Amino acid sequence: MRPVKVNGRSIVVARLADGSYRTVANTCPHEAARMSDGKVERMWHGDEVGEHRRNGWCVIVSPWHNFEFDLDTEKSACEPERMRLKTYRVVLDGEVAVYV
Ligand code: FES
Repeated sequence: MRPVKVNGRSIVVARLADGSYRTVANTCPHEAARMSDGKVERMWHGDEVGEHRRNGWCVIVSPWHNFEFDLDTEKSACEPERMRLKTYRVVLDGEVAVYV
């Protein structure tokens, strides 16, 4: 993961194991930890909590209290309807481009 600033916004660019990229806000909606100090994990059935469950989904884990956010839906794994982490669209054209 790499923190970047785009148009004054603090964003994290995460490269997944399949070579795709995801970009999310660098501030955790819980208590404002820097998400770039966390980690990205792939979740499996035995790991999953909450209502939205898929096998092999990727989450970014906040470094302070381990809240997990789905990198495709923005939703928190444990409170999907209440807590979200803003995601941004990524377009690849030889290098990573982030649109906010
Ligand atoms: S600050 Fe992210 S889970 Fe608490």
